[in-house]
Amino acid sequence: MQEKIELNAADAIKAFPAFPVALVAVGDGVRNIITVGIVHAMSLKPPIVGIGVVPSRYSHKLLQKYEDFSVNIPGKDLVKEVMYCGTKSGKDVDKFKETGLTPIKGKKISSPCIGECLVVMECKKSGSFDIGDRTWFFGEIVHAEASKDYTREKGLLYWGGEFRLPGDVVWRR
Ligand SMILES: Cc1cc2nc3c(=O)[nH]c(=O)nc-3n(C[C@H](O)[C@H](O)[C@H](O)COP(=O)(O)O)c2cc1C
Repeated sequence: MQEKIELNAADAIKAFPAFPVALVAVGDGVRNIITVGIVHAMSLKPPIVGIGVVPSRYSHKLLQKYEDFSVNIPGKDLVKEVMYCGTKSGKDVDKFKETGLTPIKGKKISSPCIGECLVVMECKKSGSFDIGDRTWFFGEIVHAEASKDYTREKGLLYWGGEFRLPGDVVWRR
């Protein structure tokens, strides 16, 4: 048995060990990058990714307007860029230009992918859903690429103001 103390609901939602961090790139012509920590696998067959984006974000408008987006997994070398894209708004700055991140033409989508990321998932928007303080945008992965030596241990996690890498394996099937 674990002895417990009561948490208020707002603190309880922050009790998850960590969330993956992704850079979402969206747009064609006008394009932008947003850092997201609210990102999840919504379906395995077909593979659908969901991102939870607050309506006040500039990216929210672009995600509504365009039919696709890319979900890009950064490594620890990109923390500075992740913070930049997560604190500056695309309505004021060109985040590709300011960070030096390289927009790579998507193979199956018109939104760009990010050259420096370890994994890129090209997603066709398959729906959206408003809940609580954000809109979940869902995207079916139609093409994906990973750097040759990618392992999940290299993908950044975030929660509560800190970035981490996944820890040790404690059990394996
Ligand atoms: C680590 C991290 C995770 C974030 N996760 C989200 C998220 O899941 N959803 C969201 O709407 N904003 C999230 N943000 C905040 C946005 O990235 C931030 O408001 C950004 O400046 C919005 O850019 P935009 O106005 O160009 O869309 C996160 C920021 C950081 C630093």
